[in-house]
Amino acid sequence: MVEAERMRVSVIGTGYLGATTAACLAEMGFEVLGLDVDEAKIDLLRSGRVPFYEPGLDELLEANLRSGRLSFTTSFAEAAGFADLHLICVGTPQRDESGAADLSYVNSAVDHLAPHLTRPTVVVGRSTVPVGTAATLAARLAALAPVGEEAELGWSPEFLREGFGVEDTLRPNRIVIGTDSPRVEKAVRALWQQPVNEGTPFLVTDLQTAELVKVSANAFLATKISFINAMAEVSEVAGADVIQLAEALSYDDRIGGKFLGPGLGFGGGCLPKDIRAFMARADELGVEPALSFLREVDAINQRRRARTIDIARQLIGGNFAGRTVTVLGAAFKPNSDDIRDSPALDVASTIASLGARVTVYDPQALERAREAHPQLNYADSMLEAARDADVVLLLTEWAEFREANPEELSAVVAQKRIVDGRNALDPTYWRASGWTYRALGRQ
Ligand code: UDX
Repeated sequence: MVEAERMRVSVIGTGYLGATTAACLAEMGFEVLGLDVDEAKIDLLRSGRVPFYEPGLDELLEANLRSGRLSFTTSFAEAAGFADLHLICVGTPQRDESGAADLSYVNSAVDHLAPHLTRPTVVVGRSTVPVGTAATLAARLAALAPVGEEAELGWSPEFLREGFGVEDTLRPNRIVIGTDSPRVEKAVRALWQQPVNEGTPFLVTDLQTAELVKVSANAFLATKISFINAMAEVSEVAGADVIQLAEALSYDDRIGGKFLGPGLGFGGGCLPKDIRAFMARADELGVEPALSFLREVDAINQRRRARTIDIARQLIGGNFAGRTVTVLGAAFKPNSDDIRDSPALDVASTIASLGARVTVYDPQALERAREAHPQLNYADSMLEAARDADVVLLLTEWAEFREANPEELSAVVAQKRIVDGRNALDPTYWRASGWTYRALGRQ
């Protein structure tokens, strides 16, 4: 294997994970070729534009295109000729109602790359896949590659959080590589030498364990969120306050305060689909009871959306028909324009289907929301969205909403009523301005 700094890497798939990985690896000094079958996306990236919102990524993309270390292609032959190491970063969306993962993009990446591999090559998957996938793909790669078993496959899951993708790639909290091949291990070590030298733990496991690390991490995070949201359900009826409860729990460092934020619950392109795919895989493996608790985790999460709608309905007197409703937030979380399984848009469209006129505002996700939910109304500012509202719902906790001035909003709404779906506001402050304030898990 060539020296770390000079190793040439191809990144297959330039979505959120791939584009971020490609730009960050170029920033770390590698020569990187990003590949996607979507020509429009490649054209955009070549011209220095990121097809989604991710803080800090534009600058990295531009700087590394300019340095010449980063380029893009749609050709697998070119990628095979260029790189010593290929990273598979394509998506694995939810397939259908079964919840199982759709592996067609991962399979297609291997099928298209393999026939061009004429010299010893390392291929490493970073996508989130059901346990057992990598072993099948390793055999498929060796069978299809002219170089045969000299085309070796390992699996190294990523743990990027949207909104912090650059930071999480440049300074990962751990690197896990599933492989029994010294060559694969060496290549992956070379890739992450810099952060590992700075203290990032490096774990070598078998393929199955590496695959499981990712899905079990996401299952744990989802469980933690649903746990505190279950406590919110109990708190509401028992007369307790879930915010104080969460704070008190957080001082036990065995529990910790992260991912213990009660509210509308989790959405996005990972947590919801990953727990469903994990359950589907457990079912296939005959260990369905081991993960049956995840069904409850999912159900608690869905109930939060229904509960938020109930609270808003109560506030306006029991019926949405003909009412004016403002929804603040469309992205599944702040600092992202990702609307995949967005709790905010789910709530907004249900309320609209119940007869209300719903107007949505989001600092970054308006364009995507408009495309996906043309039946909703959209505004270009918070104040414009709140005009004549009978009730305002805060559903994604952007800083702009956290810092909103209740006096300013008072001047435009019809009724001073707010549902804080993310427990992001100070109830005392809002009530002092004459607002009726309601939140999940509080009195
Ligand atoms: C997640 C994992 O964190 C990341 O490690 C993995 O690689 C991909 O999936 P991401 O989807 O970017 O990352 O979002 P995350 O920050 O985990 O938030 C997921 C959802 O949980 C959001 O909808 C967020 O609003 C919600 N959430 C988070 C809560 O409801 N409460 C919390 O306390 C934390």
